[in-house]
Amino acid sequence: MANAQNVGGHVSGLGKTNRVDNWWLAPLLVVAGLGYYMWAAWQAEYYAVGPYISPFYAPLLYADGAAEGGAAVQHAFFGSWPEWWPEFIPKSPAFFIFVFPATFRASCYYYRKAYYRAFFGMPPGCAVGPVPHNYKGETSLLVLQNLHRYTLYFAILLLPFLFYEGVMSFFHDGKIGIGIGSVLILLNAVFLSCYTFGCHAWRHLIGGRLNCFSCDGLSEAQHGAWSFSSWFNSRHMKFAWISLGWILLADVYIRLVSMGIIPDVNTWYGITWASQFGVH
Ligand code: FES
Repeated sequence: MANAQNVGGHVSGLGKTNRVDNWWLAPLLVVAGLGYYMWAAWQAEYYAVGPYISPFYAPLLYADGAAEGGAAVQHAFFGSWPEWWPEFIPKSPAFFIFVFPATFRASCYYYRKAYYRAFFGMPPGCAVGPVPHNYKGETSLLVLQNLHRYTLYFAILLLPFLFYEGVMSFFHDGKIGIGIGSVLILLNAVFLSCYTFGCHAWRHLIGGRLNCFSCDGLSEAQHGAWSFSSWFNSRHMKFAWISLGWILLADVYIRLVSMGIIPDVNTWYGITWASQFGVH
């Protein structure tokens, strides 16, 4: 019988549900957000303008001086683009670092739920009919998700570089100033920190694994750090979304300014178009 009721009152069939809310909105946003995240990494141009570099490309290890809307070679830690780079791969500086934030997010306990639902329909939402398959949980290749704690270490290492880019975005033409791009870049580092230090693996590492702080003679400082992380941990999903949304916003903004579609507003020149910033 079509739409037969299963035990528990669920309706069977892909995407079938008794829910009347907009359950499809969350998976749709996940596909759009993570889809843009992957698309942005492939773009080898229009990722920089004036003192701004899209956070997707930071830290900037190499820069292709010939790229439209690319960063200046002097801004890159190791200078100009390496000659050994294969011709058929876009010269996107994001490729050197993308693996670290991407694996960190991909193995995050929250995102796992989100993209298993959004990309693989396992199921698309609570009480919504799943894609038919023999779901075996996180077995086989998915056991690699347990490497999340190691991706955390690299994610933490990246944070100082993101703050560095945030601070550098307040300097242009030898003068300190502030622009919309500076605020976007600096806050990206802040929100990413809120997301990173609410990570379950981090909270476990700094004290969550213990049954009793005082019994082990651990300091109040450590208990304070654990409590601090717990505050972020209980809002981990929120910061996962805020940090993802913010980095997309920063990238889109810098890309549009770099392409000359919108101007930046800043204290250096006022309303500033890419040509005034001296875009490549
Ligand atoms: Fe989400 Fe670690 S659990 S970042």
